[in-house]
Amino acid sequence: MEVCKIDEFHKDFDGDYDVKFYKEIGDNLPVVNSLDDLIRELRVIFSCDKVNVDLVHYVMKSYKSSPADWKRFAKFDRFRYTRNLVDHGNGRYNLMTLCWGEGHGSAIHDHANSHCFMKMLQGSLEEIRFAWPKEEGDRLREIGRKELKLNDVAYINDSIGLHRVENPSNVDTAISLHLYCPPYNKCTVFNQNTGLKSTSTVTFYSAFGKRIKENKELVEPEDN
Ligand SMILES: [Fe+2]
Repeated sequence: MEVCKIDEFHKDFDGDYDVKFYKEIGDNLPVVNSLDDLIRELRVIFSCDKVNVDLVHYVMKSYKSSPADWKRFAKFDRFRYTRNLVDHGNGRYNLMTLCWGEGHGSAIHDHANSHCFMKMLQGSLEEIRFAWPKEEGDRLREIGRKELKLNDVAYINDSIGLHRVENPSNVDTAISLHLYCPPYNKCTVFNQNTGLKSTSTVTFYSAFGKRIKENKELVEPEDN
């Protein structure tokens, strides 16, 4: 399967979409009232060779989270966050929920040269960004920190840096919806103090609402 070429990401989406975006897309803005609408629109967007990053962001932002839409993909593990496949996007991208129990967090990781969009479906998460280490052995330097609240959309790729994501709450769970283009099953994780890196295999806890029982490769470190 040929992978979509995706436009270079050119802005941090804290503000409004720029005039150029509305000029190009203006009359054809998709309407997204449900998760099914979102899945359908993403498939359309990614069916062409060149993907407009602003448009991907726009449709993910347009969807207003409704638990009835995604509850079958909300499967939690007691000990660590889970990855639950929602749609495999005709092989061009993966759409999945990540379900974070109280206090759960990821390791610091890269995104294997993929684009990563992340939308909050429930609760809040904290994203902490780091610069790539200049030399192996360097402590990782924090370059930013942001709270992601309900319906927010964040974006990262390897040229922006590394990050870790965590649910800072001790009482509330959190659920986020992630799109990775192209899909990947290995990434690099980093130790913050030593900068040492290792390869991590990422797998699914469930797919299309069904639990995957044999998931022995789920070995990504919880913390470092
Ligand atoms: Fe990530």
